[in-house]
Amino acid sequence: MFEHLPQTVTVFEVGPRDGLQNEATQVPVQDKIALIEALADAGLAEIEITSFVSPKWIPQLADARELAYALLQDTAREAQNKRFARSNLNLSALVPNIKGYETAKETGLKQINLFLSASEAHSKKNINKSVAEAMSVMGEVASVAKADGKRVRCYVSTVWVCPYQGQVDPQVVLDMVPRLFAMGIDEISLGDTVGAATPKQVFDLVNRLRNYTDLSKIALHFHDTRGGALANVLAGLEAGVTIFDSSIGGLGGCPYAPGASGNLATEDLVYMLHGMGVKTGVDLQKLTEAGSLAQNILHKTLPGRYLKAHLAQSQKCEAVK
Ligand code: HMG
Ligand code: MG
Repeated sequence: MFEHLPQTVTVFEVGPRDGLQNEATQVPVQDKIALIEALADAGLAEIEITSFVSPKWIPQLADARELAYALLQDTAREAQNKRFARSNLNLSALVPNIKGYETAKETGLKQINLFLSASEAHSKKNINKSVAEAMSVMGEVASVAKADGKRVRCYVSTVWVCPYQGQVDPQVVLDMVPRLFAMGIDEISLGDTVGAATPKQVFDLVNRLRNYTDLSKIALHFHDTRGGALANVLAGLEAGVTIFDSSIGGLGGCPYAPGASGNLATEDLVYMLHGMGVKTGVDLQKLTEAGSLAQNILHKTLPGRYLKAHLAQSQKCEAVK
């Protein structure tokens, strides 16, 4: 094991979207901006800032347009002040259909992230469409977005387990992935939506995908509901994946997937990767500051284990001084 570790991994931060979509409280736009700035300041190059879905379905992100406008204008303004002047910073947002895409496009986002499910039941509950209908919508939006010069990512949810139907046949995903790439999609993120996959399942699926596609365009998106996310990252790394999604403090969950709790915490992922000699470009100290900020904004302790350990240790050391 560990013979195939990459030198570098891309960490794709989904906290401001996957995290905040699942919070009971409505976070003010200014707090969202402060959190996204802190995440960018920690060196994260890929940040999913919000989603342009129906506000009736996800009221927590009803301010998507306002947030994206403020951030993109600020990005340009801050570039002059060198605070946001990183050329590799890529802000993106989740989009379910052409209506969401048109609004995202107005804000100037250069990347949109589509989504659909591998299982029929989750597809119906999450976007009110069958998988075939969703594929057709993804094709329509991808073709318009690519013609507009946008980068397009697509999530496939419930890749291993569906909260309504149970285990998902891997062949469904193996058939779906090449069809999505054929639509012009640049990157596909495979989601363990309810955090129920185990490492061998992850390794086996990715290993089989190798025959269907270029693994450098595959990301893995693990929710940590049963504590298996880091083990699943190791399985994904060993199989050849180099892009992993995670969420600050371990925030996250899909409101239309019962039992789905937080994503893998970004600090836990970065700590493990750095400890194994894999570079991420992320500053772990600044990341914990972003995690503390998220806790302050939400007025609660977040589930991320590194953050908890780091804060507890800092408090103890302070007390000893
Ligand atoms: P629908 O009700 O079937 O939509 O919802 P519709 O097309 O029939 O339209 C109904 C109303 O919604 C209309 O308004 C539309 O204009 C409006 P009305 O005439 O009633 O006033 N509408 C919209 N408004 C704003 N933005 C839009 C939009 N589209 C329609 N884009 C729809 C279908 C897809 C919109 C809805 O089901 C929806 O928004 N679902 C999103 C659910 C969601 O966000 N789930 C969480 C994200 S997925 C996830 O977390 C998993 C992931 O993390 C990976 C993993 O973990 O596996 C990505
Ligand atoms: Mg998710």
